[in-house]
Amino acid sequence: MKVAVISGASSGLGREFALQCGKYFPQIEEYWLIARRREKIEEYAGRLGGAKVRIFPLDLAKDASYDEFAAALRAENPEIAVLINNAGLGYWGAVEKIPVEKQINSIDVNVKAVSAMTALALPYMKRGSRILFVSSVASFVPNAYMTVYSATKAYVTAYARALRCEVKPKGISVSVVCPGPMNTEFLETGGVKSKTFARLPYCNVKKVVSGTLRAAKKGKFIYTNKAFYKFYRFLAKVLPAAWLVPVAKT
Ligand SMILES: NC(=O)c1ccc[n+]([C@@H]2O[C@H](COP(=O)([O-])OP(=O)(O)OC[C@H]3O[C@@H](n4cnc5c(N)ncnc54)[C@H](OP(=O)(O)O)[C@@H]3O)[C@@H](O)[C@H]2O)c1
Repeated sequence: MKVAVISGASSGLGREFALQCGKYFPQIEEYWLIARRREKIEEYAGRLGGAKVRIFPLDLAKDASYDEFAAALRAENPEIAVLINNAGLGYWGAVEKIPVEKQINSIDVNVKAVSAMTALALPYMKRGSRILFVSSVASFVPNAYMTVYSATKAYVTAYARALRCEVKPKGISVSVVCPGPMNTEFLETGGVKSKTFARLPYCNVKKVVSGTLRAAKKGKFIYTNKAFYKFYRFLAKVLPAAWLVPVAKT
């Protein structure tokens, strides 16, 4: 049984990944969709081209959720053809103003869960399997006032880069998408009221997802939507961080 595992599948990018995945990876027979809000997944679960759907209403900040996922893997022994580590969140504001438990929760979902789910999924992958990580343009340059978030996304991009090298001999491909701002629940969850965010060009969720799946299918490592953010990625590579960090303040 060829399975696609998608975290954060209840809204935004994750929901769109589930809806578009079959177009690029028609071999998928079953979707394992993870998010706390089961009902939001149930709303669209009938639109996945007849593939089976299994919903995991897990809180990915909690270690017990990894045990539950691991137990399902042991019980079903699926072939994970596609893993999309998409669930994530971030809070906007000064570090001393954001409640510590929120900061820690975002680290748990963005860093701990991504690492745990990937490690658990890898033994069930074969030659041709794909791992996609959803990072952010925030991973290119540390962003003041999204300090924790940008640091977690730098982790995601770095983790993906190293893992790509590790699993290449096994024929498993790793890709990472680094989107700019998008109109999803992310902005409300994170209390984003930044003037910088208001001035930036927004990425279209559907285009980000189709571009990412196309890039992953080709085995491309990094995908950034929009020329503006591609240029930003280039600048981040060639200019010193000390110059860019004050400019990249959110
Ligand atoms: N929107 C942007 O501007 C933007 C820009 C760059 C990168 N990104 C990244 O894109 C990814 C998707 O975000 P989005 O924009 O689509 O936002 P979103 O609509 O808020 O989606 C976030 C998803 O993550 C899930 N999630 C959050 N906390 C969770 C937890 N503790 N356990 C399990 N699932 C959890 C949510 O599901 P439940 O609430 O149902 O659990 C939801 O499905 C994130 O990694 C984000 O960092 C977003």
